[in-house]
Amino acid sequence: MEQRDQWATKLGLILAMAGNAIGLGNFWRFPYQLASNGGGAFMIPYFIALFFLGIPVMWIEWTTGRYGGKYGHGTIGPMFYLMARESVKPKTALIFGIIGGMLAFSVASLLSSYYYQVIGWSAAYTYYSLTGAYFGKDTVQFFLDYVANTKAVIFFWGLTMVLLGIAVGQGVSKGIERWVKVMMPLLYVFAILLVIRALTLGSPVKPEWSSIKGLEYIWKPDFQTLSKHFFKISLAAAGQIFFTLSLGMGIIHNYASYLGPEDDVALSGLATVSLNEFAEVVLGGSLAIPIAFAYLGPEQAIKGGVGLAYMALPNVFANMPAGQIFGAMWFLLLWFAGFTSAIATYNYLVAMLEEDIHIERKIGTWVVWIFLFILGLPVALDSTLAYLSELDMWVGSYFLVLLGLFDVIVAVWLFKPDNFWEELHKGAYIKVPEWFKPIITYIAPLFMIILLGGNTYDYWKNGAFSVSKYYVTEVLKYDYTPEIISLITRARIVIFIILIIGAIEAYLAIKKKYGEELEKNEVIIKV
Ligand code: TRP
Repeated sequence: MEQRDQWATKLGLILAMAGNAIGLGNFWRFPYQLASNGGGAFMIPYFIALFFLGIPVMWIEWTTGRYGGKYGHGTIGPMFYLMARESVKPKTALIFGIIGGMLAFSVASLLSSYYYQVIGWSAAYTYYSLTGAYFGKDTVQFFLDYVANTKAVIFFWGLTMVLLGIAVGQGVSKGIERWVKVMMPLLYVFAILLVIRALTLGSPVKPEWSSIKGLEYIWKPDFQTLSKHFFKISLAAAGQIFFTLSLGMGIIHNYASYLGPEDDVALSGLATVSLNEFAEVVLGGSLAIPIAFAYLGPEQAIKGGVGLAYMALPNVFANMPAGQIFGAMWFLLLWFAGFTSAIATYNYLVAMLEEDIHIERKIGTWVVWIFLFILGLPVALDSTLAYLSELDMWVGSYFLVLLGLFDVIVAVWLFKPDNFWEELHKGAYIKVPEWFKPIITYIAPLFMIILLGGNTYDYWKNGAFSVSKYYVTEVLKYDYTPEIISLITRARIVIFIILIIGAIEAYLAIKKKYGEELEKNEVIIKV
Protein backbone atom coordinates (compact mmCIF):
# COMPACT_ATOMS: atom_id res chain seq x y z
CA MET A 1 0.00 0.00 0.00
CA GLU A 2 1.22 3.51 -0.76
CA GLN A 3 2.57 5.53 2.14
CA ARG A 4 -0.03 7.96 3.47
CA ASP A 5 0.84 11.28 5.00
CA GLN A 6 0.61 11.36 8.83
CA TRP A 7 0.55 14.07 11.46
CA ALA A 8 4.14 14.84 12.42
CA THR A 9 3.53 15.82 16.03
CA LYS A 10 0.86 15.30 18.66
CA LEU A 11 0.65 19.02 19.25
CA GLY A 12 0.18 19.64 15.54
CA LEU A 13 -2.61 17.10 15.39
CA ILE A 14 -4.45 18.56 18.39
CA LEU A 15 -4.10 22.11 17.07
CA ALA A 16 -5.31 21.01 13.65
CA MET A 17 -8.35 19.31 15.16
CA ALA A 18 -9.02 22.31 17.39
CA GLY A 19 -8.59 24.56 14.36
CA ASN A 20 -11.02 22.40 12.47
CA ALA A 21 -13.66 22.64 15.18
CA ILE A 22 -13.08 26.22 16.31
CA GLY A 23 -14.48 28.33 13.54
CA LEU A 24 -17.00 30.96 12.62
CA GLY A 25 -19.41 28.70 14.44
CA ASN A 26 -17.86 29.69 17.75
CA PHE A 27 -17.62 33.44 17.35
CA TRP A 28 -20.29 34.30 14.81
CA ARG A 29 -22.96 31.58 14.81
CA PHE A 30 -22.99 30.72 18.52
CA PRO A 31 -23.71 34.26 19.77
CA TYR A 32 -26.64 34.82 17.47
CA GLN A 33 -28.11 31.37 18.05
CA LEU A 34 -27.79 32.00 21.75
CA ALA A 35 -29.30 35.48 21.54
CA SER A 36 -32.24 34.50 19.39
CA ASN A 37 -33.05 31.42 21.48
CA GLY A 38 -33.40 32.99 24.88
CA GLY A 39 -29.82 33.10 26.20
CA GLY A 40 -29.94 31.21 29.49
CA ALA A 41 -32.75 29.08 28.08
CA PHE A 42 -30.53 27.93 25.20
CA MET A 43 -27.63 26.90 27.41
CA ILE A 44 -29.60 24.11 29.13
CA PRO A 45 -30.29 21.93 26.06
CA TYR A 46 -26.91 23.03 24.70
CA PHE A 47 -25.00 21.30 27.51
CA ILE A 48 -27.30 18.30 27.40
CA ALA A 49 -26.65 17.92 23.69
CA LEU A 50 -22.93 18.37 24.25
CA PHE A 51 -22.86 15.44 26.62
CA PHE A 52 -25.27 13.04 24.94
CA LEU A 53 -24.53 13.90 21.34
CA GLY A 54 -21.35 15.90 20.94
CA ILE A 55 -18.95 13.70 22.88
CA PRO A 56 -20.28 10.34 21.59
CA VAL A 57 -20.31 11.39 17.94
CA MET A 58 -16.87 12.96 18.28
CA TRP A 59 -15.46 9.63 19.51
CA ILE A 60 -17.24 7.74 16.77
CA GLU A 61 -15.83 9.99 14.06
CA TRP A 62 -12.26 9.81 15.39
CA THR A 63 -12.49 6.03 15.59
CA THR A 64 -14.01 5.68 12.13
CA GLY A 65 -11.37 7.98 10.65
CA ARG A 66 -8.42 6.13 12.11
CA TYR A 67 -9.92 2.83 10.99
CA GLY A 68 -10.34 4.08 7.42
CA GLY A 69 -6.84 5.54 7.42
CA LYS A 70 -5.45 2.12 8.16
CA TYR A 71 -6.81 1.03 4.78
CA GLY A 72 -5.56 4.19 3.09
CA HIS A 73 -8.85 6.11 3.03
CA GLY A 74 -9.61 9.65 4.13
CA THR A 75 -13.16 9.82 2.78
CA ILE A 76 -16.41 8.50 4.19
CA GLY A 77 -17.57 6.28 1.34
CA PRO A 78 -14.89 3.60 1.70
CA MET A 79 -14.76 4.05 5.49
CA PHE A 80 -18.46 3.25 5.92
CA TYR A 81 -18.20 0.39 3.48
CA LEU A 82 -15.35 -1.18 5.45
CA MET A 83 -17.09 -0.91 8.78
CA ALA A 84 -20.51 -2.02 7.57
CA ARG A 85 -18.92 -5.18 6.13
CA GLU A 86 -18.61 -6.52 9.65
CA SER A 87 -22.36 -7.22 9.77
CA VAL A 88 -23.66 -7.25 6.24
CA LYS A 89 -22.50 -8.58 2.88
CA PRO A 90 -20.29 -6.29 0.78
CA LYS A 91 -23.14 -5.52 -1.62
CA THR A 92 -25.27 -4.16 1.22
CA ALA A 93 -22.29 -2.45 2.83
CA LEU A 94 -21.84 -0.62 -0.47
CA ILE A 95 -25.19 1.13 0.08
CA PHE A 96 -24.03 2.55 3.41
CA GLY A 97 -20.80 3.65 1.79
CA ILE A 98 -22.70 5.45 -0.92
CA ILE A 99 -25.05 7.22 1.51
CA GLY A 100 -22.18 8.34 3.73
CA GLY A 101 -19.95 9.42 0.86
CA MET A 102 -22.81 11.29 -0.75
CA LEU A 103 -23.69 13.23 2.40
CA ALA A 104 -20.09 14.03 3.31
CA PHE A 105 -19.28 15.26 -0.18
CA SER A 106 -22.37 17.46 -0.22
CA VAL A 107 -21.63 18.93 3.16
CA ALA A 108 -17.95 19.50 2.42
CA SER A 109 -18.64 21.26 -0.86
CA LEU A 110 -21.93 23.10 -0.21
CA LEU A 111 -21.12 24.25 3.30
CA SER A 112 -17.83 25.55 1.96
CA SER A 113 -19.56 27.39 -0.85
CA TYR A 114 -21.03 29.87 1.61
CA TYR A 115 -18.77 29.50 4.64
CA TYR A 116 -15.73 30.61 2.61
CA GLN A 117 -17.70 33.70 1.64
CA VAL A 118 -18.22 34.63 5.25
CA ILE A 119 -14.48 34.20 5.84
CA GLY A 120 -13.97 36.57 2.93
CA TRP A 121 -16.22 39.12 4.63
CA SER A 122 -13.94 38.93 7.68
CA ALA A 123 -10.91 39.62 5.53
CA ALA A 124 -12.65 42.67 4.08
CA TYR A 125 -13.77 43.90 7.47
CA THR A 126 -10.29 43.50 8.95
CA TYR A 127 -9.14 45.86 6.24
CA TYR A 128 -12.10 48.24 6.66
CA SER A 129 -11.49 48.35 10.41
CA LEU A 130 -7.86 49.29 10.00
CA THR A 131 -8.73 52.03 7.52
CA GLY A 132 -11.79 53.08 9.51
CA ALA A 133 -13.91 52.80 6.37
CA TYR A 134 -17.20 52.18 8.17
CA PHE A 135 -16.54 54.64 10.98
CA GLY A 136 -19.19 57.32 11.26
CA LYS A 137 -21.44 55.53 8.76
CA ASP A 138 -24.62 53.52 9.02
CA THR A 139 -23.03 50.11 9.52
CA VAL A 140 -26.07 48.15 8.38
CA GLN A 141 -26.12 49.99 5.08
CA PHE A 142 -22.34 49.62 4.86
CA PHE A 143 -22.68 45.86 5.09
CA LEU A 144 -25.47 45.71 2.52
CA ASP A 145 -23.39 47.87 0.17
CA TYR A 146 -20.44 45.59 0.74
CA VAL A 147 -22.23 42.36 -0.18
CA ALA A 148 -23.64 44.10 -3.25
CA ASN A 149 -20.13 45.15 -4.29
CA THR A 150 -19.30 42.09 -6.34
CA LYS A 151 -15.74 43.12 -7.11
CA ALA A 152 -14.77 43.58 -3.47
CA VAL A 153 -16.57 40.42 -2.42
CA ILE A 154 -14.82 38.31 -5.02
CA PHE A 155 -11.47 39.91 -4.25
CA PHE A 156 -11.46 39.18 -0.50
CA TRP A 157 -13.01 35.75 -0.95
CA GLY A 158 -10.60 34.87 -3.78
CA LEU A 159 -7.63 36.02 -1.73
CA THR A 160 -8.73 33.81 1.15
CA MET A 161 -9.15 30.89 -1.21
CA VAL A 162 -5.71 31.31 -2.75
CA LEU A 163 -4.15 31.15 0.71
CA LEU A 164 -6.26 28.09 1.50
CA GLY A 165 -5.07 26.47 -1.70
CA ILE A 166 -1.44 27.11 -0.83
CA ALA A 167 -1.83 25.64 2.67
CA VAL A 168 -3.69 22.53 1.52
CA GLY A 169 -1.44 22.01 -1.51
CA GLN A 170 1.54 21.54 0.80
CA GLY A 171 -0.05 18.48 2.36
CA VAL A 172 -1.07 17.46 5.84
CA SER A 173 2.15 17.39 7.84
CA LYS A 174 4.06 19.95 5.77
CA GLY A 175 1.18 22.32 5.08
CA ILE A 176 -1.89 22.17 7.29
CA GLU A 177 0.04 21.29 10.42
CA ARG A 178 2.49 24.17 10.01
CA TRP A 179 -0.19 26.75 9.26
CA VAL A 180 -2.32 25.84 12.27
CA LYS A 181 0.68 25.92 14.58
CA VAL A 182 0.97 29.64 13.86
CA MET A 183 -2.68 30.55 13.52
CA MET A 184 -4.19 28.75 16.50
CA PRO A 185 -1.99 30.34 19.19
CA LEU A 186 -2.64 33.75 17.62
CA LEU A 187 -6.35 33.05 17.64
CA TYR A 188 -6.31 32.37 21.37
CA VAL A 189 -4.24 35.48 22.07
CA PHE A 190 -6.62 37.70 20.10
CA ALA A 191 -9.65 36.14 21.70
CA ILE A 192 -8.31 36.57 25.21
CA LEU A 193 -7.31 40.19 24.61
CA LEU A 194 -10.75 40.91 23.21
CA VAL A 195 -12.48 39.23 26.13
CA ILE A 196 -10.52 41.36 28.58
CA ARG A 197 -11.54 44.43 26.60
CA ALA A 198 -15.17 43.32 26.45
CA LEU A 199 -15.48 42.70 30.16
CA THR A 200 -13.86 45.99 31.16
CA LEU A 201 -16.07 48.19 29.03
CA GLY A 202 -18.17 49.34 31.99
CA SER A 203 -21.25 51.29 30.96
CA PRO A 204 -20.12 53.56 28.15
CA VAL A 205 -23.55 54.53 26.83
CA LYS A 206 -26.22 54.14 29.50
CA PRO A 207 -25.73 53.28 33.16
CA GLU A 208 -28.07 50.29 32.88
CA TRP A 209 -26.26 48.81 29.87
CA SER A 210 -23.13 46.77 30.57
CA SER A 211 -21.26 43.73 29.34
CA ILE A 212 -21.88 42.03 32.67
CA LYS A 213 -25.63 42.20 31.91
CA GLY A 214 -24.82 40.34 28.73
CA LEU A 215 -23.11 37.59 30.67
CA GLU A 216 -26.11 37.39 32.96
CA TYR A 217 -28.41 36.95 29.99
CA ILE A 218 -26.33 33.98 28.87
CA TRP A 219 -25.60 32.32 32.17
CA LYS A 220 -28.83 32.68 34.13
CA PRO A 221 -30.72 29.44 33.42
CA ASP A 222 -34.12 30.38 32.08
CA PHE A 223 -36.41 27.37 32.37
CA GLN A 224 -39.51 29.39 31.71
CA THR A 225 -38.54 30.48 28.22
CA LEU A 226 -37.20 27.01 27.54
CA SER A 227 -40.45 25.30 28.42
CA LYS A 228 -42.40 27.77 26.31
CA HIS A 229 -40.36 27.11 23.16
CA PHE A 230 -38.95 23.77 24.15
CA PHE A 231 -38.69 22.16 20.74
CA LYS A 232 -37.41 25.12 18.80
CA ILE A 233 -34.68 25.94 21.33
CA SER A 234 -33.59 22.32 21.74
CA LEU A 235 -33.31 21.85 18.00
CA ALA A 236 -31.22 24.98 17.67
CA ALA A 237 -28.95 23.94 20.54
CA ALA A 238 -28.32 20.45 19.19
CA GLY A 239 -27.75 21.87 15.70
CA GLN A 240 -25.18 24.24 17.12
CA ILE A 241 -23.37 21.35 18.85
CA PHE A 242 -23.06 19.57 15.53
CA PHE A 243 -21.93 22.64 13.66
CA THR A 244 -19.40 23.86 16.18
CA LEU A 245 -17.77 20.48 16.74
CA SER A 246 -17.57 19.88 12.96
CA LEU A 247 -19.65 16.73 13.35
CA GLY A 248 -21.53 15.14 10.48
CA MET A 249 -19.25 16.81 7.95
CA GLY A 250 -16.71 14.09 7.26
CA ILE A 251 -13.84 16.33 8.26
CA ILE A 252 -13.15 14.89 11.71
CA HIS A 253 -12.99 11.45 10.06
CA ASN A 254 -10.67 12.86 7.44
CA TYR A 255 -8.23 14.43 9.91
CA ALA A 256 -8.29 11.28 12.06
CA SER A 257 -7.41 9.19 9.02
CA TYR A 258 -3.89 10.65 9.16
CA LEU A 259 -3.26 8.96 12.52
CA GLY A 260 -1.22 5.84 13.01
CA PRO A 261 -3.33 2.72 13.78
CA GLU A 262 -2.27 2.75 17.44
CA ASP A 263 -2.52 6.49 18.08
CA ASP A 264 -4.85 7.55 20.85
CA VAL A 265 -8.33 8.69 19.85
CA ALA A 266 -10.22 8.61 23.17
CA LEU A 267 -8.36 11.36 24.96
CA SER A 268 -7.64 13.30 21.78
CA GLY A 269 -11.32 13.36 20.85
CA LEU A 270 -12.17 14.64 24.29
CA ALA A 271 -9.42 17.25 24.03
CA THR A 272 -10.91 18.49 20.77
CA VAL A 273 -14.30 18.88 22.42
CA SER A 274 -12.81 20.67 25.43
CA LEU A 275 -10.73 23.09 23.39
CA ASN A 276 -13.69 23.91 21.20
CA GLU A 277 -16.10 24.38 24.07
CA PHE A 278 -13.66 26.65 25.88
CA ALA A 279 -13.39 28.74 22.73
CA GLU A 280 -17.15 28.72 22.29
CA VAL A 281 -18.82 29.25 25.64
CA VAL A 282 -16.00 31.00 27.49
CA LEU A 283 -14.40 33.09 24.74
CA GLY A 284 -17.16 33.26 22.12
CA GLY A 285 -19.79 33.79 24.79
CA SER A 286 -17.88 36.69 26.32
CA LEU A 287 -17.50 38.67 23.11
CA ALA A 288 -20.28 39.57 20.71
CA ILE A 289 -23.19 39.51 23.14
CA PRO A 290 -21.58 41.28 26.10
CA ILE A 291 -20.08 43.93 23.80
CA ALA A 292 -23.43 44.50 22.14
CA PHE A 293 -25.16 44.66 25.52
CA ALA A 294 -22.81 47.41 26.68
CA TYR A 295 -23.02 49.57 23.58
CA LEU A 296 -26.33 48.81 21.91
CA GLY A 297 -28.42 47.64 24.83
CA PRO A 298 -30.14 44.29 25.42
CA GLU A 299 -32.86 44.80 22.86
CA GLN A 300 -30.56 45.46 19.92
CA ALA A 301 -28.13 42.78 21.06
CA ILE A 302 -30.82 40.12 21.10
CA LYS A 303 -32.32 41.27 17.83
CA GLY A 304 -28.93 41.36 16.11
CA GLY A 305 -29.37 37.91 14.59
CA VAL A 306 -27.10 36.82 11.80
CA GLY A 307 -25.97 40.41 11.42
CA LEU A 308 -24.61 40.69 14.95
CA ALA A 309 -20.97 40.20 13.98
CA TYR A 310 -20.94 42.16 10.73
CA MET A 311 -23.61 44.83 11.16
CA ALA A 312 -24.02 45.54 14.87
CA LEU A 313 -20.46 45.19 16.15
CA PRO A 314 -18.85 47.53 13.59
CA ASN A 315 -21.09 50.21 15.02
CA VAL A 316 -19.57 49.48 18.41
CA PHE A 317 -15.97 49.59 17.19
CA ALA A 318 -16.67 52.90 15.50
CA ASN A 319 -17.56 54.36 18.89
CA MET A 320 -14.99 52.64 21.05
CA PRO A 321 -11.58 54.06 22.02
CA ALA A 322 -8.94 52.39 19.80
CA GLY A 323 -11.84 50.90 17.88
CA GLN A 324 -9.80 50.50 14.71
CA ILE A 325 -7.42 48.14 16.46
CA PHE A 326 -10.09 46.19 18.33
CA GLY A 327 -12.24 45.99 15.25
CA ALA A 328 -9.37 44.66 13.19
CA MET A 329 -8.54 42.18 15.92
CA TRP A 330 -12.13 40.92 16.05
CA PHE A 331 -12.36 40.39 12.32
CA LEU A 332 -8.90 38.87 12.05
CA LEU A 333 -9.94 36.51 14.84
CA LEU A 334 -12.95 35.52 12.74
CA TRP A 335 -10.72 35.10 9.73
CA PHE A 336 -8.24 32.81 11.52
CA ALA A 337 -11.07 30.81 13.04
CA GLY A 338 -12.75 30.38 9.68
CA PHE A 339 -9.54 29.69 7.80
CA THR A 340 -8.35 26.84 10.01
CA SER A 341 -11.80 25.26 9.68
CA ALA A 342 -12.02 25.77 5.95
CA ILE A 343 -8.74 23.93 5.47
CA ALA A 344 -10.49 20.80 6.66
CA THR A 345 -13.30 20.67 4.09
CA TYR A 346 -10.84 21.68 1.40
CA ASN A 347 -8.56 18.82 2.40
CA TYR A 348 -11.48 16.42 2.36
CA LEU A 349 -12.12 17.18 -1.28
CA VAL A 350 -8.44 16.98 -2.18
CA ALA A 351 -8.11 13.63 -0.38
CA MET A 352 -11.03 12.41 -2.43
CA LEU A 353 -9.26 13.15 -5.70
CA GLU A 354 -5.92 11.97 -4.38
CA GLU A 355 -7.04 8.62 -3.01
CA ASP A 356 -10.13 7.74 -4.95
CA ILE A 357 -9.11 8.94 -8.40
CA HIS A 358 -5.30 9.15 -8.00
CA ILE A 359 -4.90 12.77 -8.96
CA GLU A 360 -1.73 14.17 -7.43
CA ARG A 361 -2.27 16.56 -4.52
CA LYS A 362 -0.49 19.44 -6.26
CA ILE A 363 -2.92 19.27 -9.15
CA GLY A 364 -5.95 18.14 -7.16
CA THR A 365 -5.67 21.20 -4.95
CA TRP A 366 -6.28 23.52 -7.87
CA VAL A 367 -8.96 21.33 -9.41
CA VAL A 368 -10.80 21.63 -6.10
CA TRP A 369 -10.07 25.36 -6.10
CA ILE A 370 -11.86 25.82 -9.39
CA PHE A 371 -14.73 23.59 -8.27
CA LEU A 372 -15.19 25.55 -5.04
CA PHE A 373 -14.90 28.83 -6.89
CA ILE A 374 -17.69 27.86 -9.27
CA LEU A 375 -19.88 26.64 -6.39
CA GLY A 376 -19.20 29.86 -4.49
CA LEU A 377 -20.03 32.22 -7.35
CA PRO A 378 -23.81 32.12 -6.98
CA VAL A 379 -23.31 33.00 -3.31
CA ALA A 380 -20.92 35.82 -4.12
CA LEU A 381 -23.23 37.25 -6.79
CA ASP A 382 -26.38 37.15 -4.68
CA SER A 383 -26.54 40.30 -2.61
CA THR A 384 -29.87 39.27 -1.07
CA LEU A 385 -28.15 36.27 0.59
CA ALA A 386 -31.31 34.22 0.00
CA TYR A 387 -29.38 31.53 -1.84
CA LEU A 388 -26.99 31.26 1.12
CA SER A 389 -29.86 31.09 3.62
CA GLU A 390 -31.52 28.30 1.70
CA LEU A 391 -28.32 26.23 1.53
CA ASP A 392 -27.82 26.74 5.23
CA MET A 393 -31.37 25.54 5.98
CA TRP A 394 -30.68 22.11 4.54
CA VAL A 395 -26.97 21.53 4.53
CA GLY A 396 -25.95 23.44 7.66
CA SER A 397 -28.36 21.67 9.96
CA TYR A 398 -30.28 18.80 8.42
CA PHE A 399 -27.52 16.98 6.55
CA LEU A 400 -25.12 17.16 9.49
CA VAL A 401 -27.49 15.32 11.81
CA LEU A 402 -28.36 12.82 9.11
CA LEU A 403 -24.69 11.97 8.59
CA GLY A 404 -24.25 11.83 12.37
CA LEU A 405 -27.00 9.24 12.58
CA PHE A 406 -25.34 7.14 9.91
CA ASP A 407 -22.08 7.46 11.86
CA VAL A 408 -23.70 5.52 14.70
CA ILE A 409 -25.55 3.07 12.49
CA VAL A 410 -22.39 2.12 10.65
CA ALA A 411 -19.54 2.52 13.13
CA VAL A 412 -21.38 1.22 16.20
CA TRP A 413 -24.33 -0.92 15.15
CA LEU A 414 -23.03 -2.56 12.01
CA PHE A 415 -19.40 -2.57 13.07
CA LYS A 416 -20.82 -4.02 16.32
CA PRO A 417 -20.74 -2.22 19.66
CA ASP A 418 -18.04 -4.46 21.15
CA ASN A 419 -15.74 -4.01 18.19
CA PHE A 420 -16.32 -0.29 18.34
CA TRP A 421 -15.52 -0.17 22.03
CA GLU A 422 -12.33 -2.12 21.44
CA GLU A 423 -11.33 0.07 18.51
CA LEU A 424 -11.99 3.23 20.54
CA HIS A 425 -9.65 1.98 23.25
CA LYS A 426 -6.85 0.80 21.00
CA GLY A 427 -3.79 2.82 22.07
CA ALA A 428 -6.05 5.01 24.21
CA TYR A 429 -4.66 7.18 26.98
CA ILE A 430 -7.91 6.97 28.94
CA LYS A 431 -10.55 4.38 29.63
CA VAL A 432 -14.06 5.54 28.88
CA PRO A 433 -16.35 4.38 31.71
CA GLU A 434 -18.50 1.41 30.83
CA TRP A 435 -21.74 3.28 31.53
CA PHE A 436 -21.01 5.53 28.58
CA LYS A 437 -21.45 2.65 26.16
CA PRO A 438 -25.26 2.69 26.14
CA ILE A 439 -25.14 6.45 25.64
CA ILE A 440 -23.15 5.93 22.46
CA THR A 441 -25.14 2.95 21.28
CA TYR A 442 -28.72 3.98 22.07
CA ILE A 443 -29.16 7.43 23.51
CA ALA A 444 -27.16 9.39 20.93
CA PRO A 445 -28.91 7.83 17.91
CA LEU A 446 -32.32 8.15 19.57
CA PHE A 447 -31.55 11.81 20.18
CA MET A 448 -30.69 12.23 16.50
CA ILE A 449 -33.81 10.46 15.29
CA ILE A 450 -35.93 12.78 17.43
CA LEU A 451 -34.02 15.77 16.06
CA LEU A 452 -34.45 14.69 12.47
CA GLY A 453 -38.12 13.94 13.05
CA GLY A 454 -38.59 17.33 14.68
CA ASN A 455 -36.73 19.09 11.91
CA THR A 456 -38.68 17.33 9.20
CA TYR A 457 -41.95 18.13 10.92
CA ASP A 458 -40.88 21.75 11.32
CA TYR A 459 -39.91 22.08 7.66
CA TRP A 460 -43.12 20.42 6.58
CA LYS A 461 -45.28 22.56 8.86
CA ASN A 462 -43.59 25.72 7.60
CA GLY A 463 -44.14 24.71 4.01
CA ALA A 464 -40.42 24.47 3.35
CA PHE A 465 -40.86 21.57 0.95
CA SER A 466 -43.26 23.49 -1.25
CA VAL A 467 -41.55 26.90 -0.84
CA SER A 468 -44.71 28.35 0.66
CA LYS A 469 -45.25 32.03 1.21
CA TYR A 470 -45.07 31.46 4.94
CA TYR A 471 -41.71 29.73 4.58
CA VAL A 472 -40.20 32.54 2.54
CA THR A 473 -41.53 35.43 4.58
CA GLU A 474 -41.53 33.99 8.10
CA VAL A 475 -38.72 31.44 8.17
CA LEU A 476 -36.18 32.85 5.74
CA LYS A 477 -37.52 36.38 6.25
CA TYR A 478 -37.54 37.54 2.64
CA ASP A 479 -40.14 39.16 0.43
CA TYR A 480 -42.16 36.65 -1.53
CA THR A 481 -40.89 37.74 -4.95
CA PRO A 482 -40.13 35.72 -8.09
CA GLU A 483 -36.46 36.64 -7.71
CA ILE A 484 -36.22 35.16 -4.23
CA ILE A 485 -38.18 32.07 -5.21
CA SER A 486 -35.89 31.50 -8.13
CA LEU A 487 -32.82 31.81 -5.87
CA ILE A 488 -34.30 29.25 -3.50
CA THR A 489 -35.10 26.91 -6.36
CA ARG A 490 -31.60 27.27 -7.75
CA ALA A 491 -30.11 26.41 -4.36
CA ARG A 492 -32.21 23.25 -4.29
CA ILE A 493 -31.20 22.21 -7.76
CA VAL A 494 -27.54 22.66 -6.84
CA ILE A 495 -28.00 20.58 -3.68
CA PHE A 496 -29.63 17.85 -5.74
CA ILE A 497 -26.88 17.77 -8.36
CA ILE A 498 -24.15 17.69 -5.71
CA LEU A 499 -25.86 14.79 -3.93
CA ILE A 500 -25.91 12.81 -7.16
CA ILE A 501 -22.26 13.51 -7.90
CA GLY A 502 -21.38 12.52 -4.33
CA ALA A 503 -23.22 9.23 -4.64
CA ILE A 504 -21.56 8.36 -7.94
CA GLU A 505 -18.14 9.29 -6.63
CA ALA A 506 -18.53 7.11 -3.54
CA TYR A 507 -19.77 4.20 -5.63
CA LEU A 508 -16.82 4.42 -8.03
CA ALA A 509 -14.28 4.83 -5.24
CA ILE A 510 -15.50 1.74 -3.41
CA LYS A 511 -15.88 -0.32 -6.54
CA LYS A 512 -12.42 0.53 -7.75
CA LYS A 513 -10.68 -0.78 -4.66
CA TYR A 514 -13.10 -3.47 -3.52
CA GLY A 515 -14.52 -4.55 -6.87
CA GLU A 516 -13.54 -8.15 -6.42
CA GLU A 517 -15.17 -8.28 -3.00
CA LEU A 518 -18.36 -6.84 -4.39
CA GLU A 519 -18.43 -9.32 -7.22
CA LYS A 520 -17.94 -12.35 -4.98
CA ASN A 521 -19.95 -10.62 -2.27
CA GLU A 522 -17.51 -11.70 0.45
CA VAL A 523 -14.76 -10.00 2.42
CA ILE A 524 -11.25 -10.45 1.00
CA ILE A 525 -9.20 -7.38 1.91
CA LYS A 526 -8.46 -7.20 5.61
CA VAL A 527 -5.60 -5.44 7.38
N1 TRP B 1 -16.82 23.65 13.39
C1 TRP B 1 -16.75 24.65 12.41
C2 TRP B 1 -17.22 25.95 12.99
O1 TRP B 1 -17.54 26.01 14.14
C3 TRP B 1 -17.55 24.28 11.21
C4 TRP B 1 -16.70 24.00 10.05
C5 TRP B 1 -15.49 23.43 10.10
C6 TRP B 1 -16.96 24.32 8.70
N2 TRP B 1 -14.97 23.38 8.84
C7 TRP B 1 -15.84 23.91 7.98
C8 TRP B 1 -18.00 24.91 8.02
C9 TRP B 1 -15.75 24.08 6.63
C10 TRP B 1 -17.90 25.06 6.66
C11 TRP B 1 -16.78 24.64 5.96
O2 TRP B 1 -17.26 26.95 12.33
